[in-house]
Amino acid sequence: MKKHKLICVAGARPNFMKVAPLLRVLRSDRHLEAVLVHTGQHYDDQLSGQFFRDLELPPPDHHLCVGSGSHAQQTAEVMKRLEPVVIAEDADGVIVVGDVNSTLAAALVAAKLQVPVFHIEAGLRSFDRGMPEEINRVLTDAISDALLVTEDTGQKNLLNEGIPEYRIHLVGNLMIDSLHHSLASARRSDVLQRLHIAGKRFGLVTLHRPSNVDHPEALEEILGALAEISEAVPLLFPVHPRTRASLDRMQKRQNGRITYLEPFGYIDFLSLMSNSSVVCTDSGGIQEETTALGIPCLTLRENTERPVTIEQGTNTLAGVRRNTILAAWNEMLEHPKTGRIPPLWDGAAAARCLTVLHSYFGIDSEQIQALPLLAANAVA
Ligand code: UD1
Repeated sequence: MKKHKLICVAGARPNFMKVAPLLRVLRSDRHLEAVLVHTGQHYDDQLSGQFFRDLELPPPDHHLCVGSGSHAQQTAEVMKRLEPVVIAEDADGVIVVGDVNSTLAAALVAAKLQVPVFHIEAGLRSFDRGMPEEINRVLTDAISDALLVTEDTGQKNLLNEGIPEYRIHLVGNLMIDSLHHSLASARRSDVLQRLHIAGKRFGLVTLHRPSNVDHPEALEEILGALAEISEAVPLLFPVHPRTRASLDRMQKRQNGRITYLEPFGYIDFLSLMSNSSVVCTDSGGIQEETTALGIPCLTLRENTERPVTIEQGTNTLAGVRRNTILAAWNEMLEHPKTGRIPPLWDGAAAARCLTVLHSYFGIDSEQIQALPLLAANAVA
């Protein structure tokens, strides 16, 4: 029997954690086969190769080597280079994850070739079109055939945008599948010893959103708050290349007890995160991972597309001004959030994705479990 061939597209650091558990279930499936495409949006070993090794990802079947560029250049380059691959592979579907430029570019290529698009992590909305990712999310969802959602606000957002209910599936969170899979390796990591912080209290910082790091005044404001927080708990700050470029331009002087470091791979970062007292971040995925780990998180943004991490998890929206960040920090000290793990963030999201794919292709498998599909009356 011919297997249905699915192209899985990954391009940037946060994609790799989502694709890894999916590939594991696809590659052991009797009915589906997976082809992995790396667009090359991220290409440094620190942002890409190390993640492939840490997540035990197989080498990509196709590497498009698109590299960096403006949004238009990068999106167009992925489209130009992916189209012949989708045609040559004669794919039955294209799976895209997350909200990066590669996600939108791949969805556009597939939709125009009339190849079904499966969007994993669909429906998240910050309602802030100033974020490039928000534009990627809205457009990708509009042209996807099946929309696989991590949290129930995702379902509501999609229904509000007129996406038919039958296309929407709440499957849980693939990031948390990867986290479960890698926690044991993270416990064996020697990163705490290498940094001489074993048994010590520390906080962790990540910043890479253009709105926070591209403008010196915005970055100064955040660094001012972090310097003050670091007087209470020393901070480790692995610096993303975008942020490094800004810091270099600003010729940043040492301020507070902040240690600037190179980016870490997945396993070492997971070890650091799970041992930290607080995480200050503008990342989407880290808001989810800290909620799953029960670690307090201050999100240095005005909004989040992942409200479940605030309503149910350990996340607090701290804003981007010095005074709002410090107010959130003090509130966190006085009233620490305990939080709980959101529904279906249980390490089994990939199995639910597989069930959706089986059902899409009409594969009648005894292994298909009942899906927590959206009930019409559950929608406000
Ligand atoms: C991208 C995603 C963002 C995601 C982030 C995770 C978009 C619009 N943005 O942002 O959603 O949260 O990845 O890291 O898709 N660079 C390197 N080495 C690399 C890759 C990039 O040095 O391997 C530098 C280049 O100078 C590049 C800059 O980082 O111009 C930005 O890279 P880019 O992929 O455009 O966006 P990110 O900020 O990484």
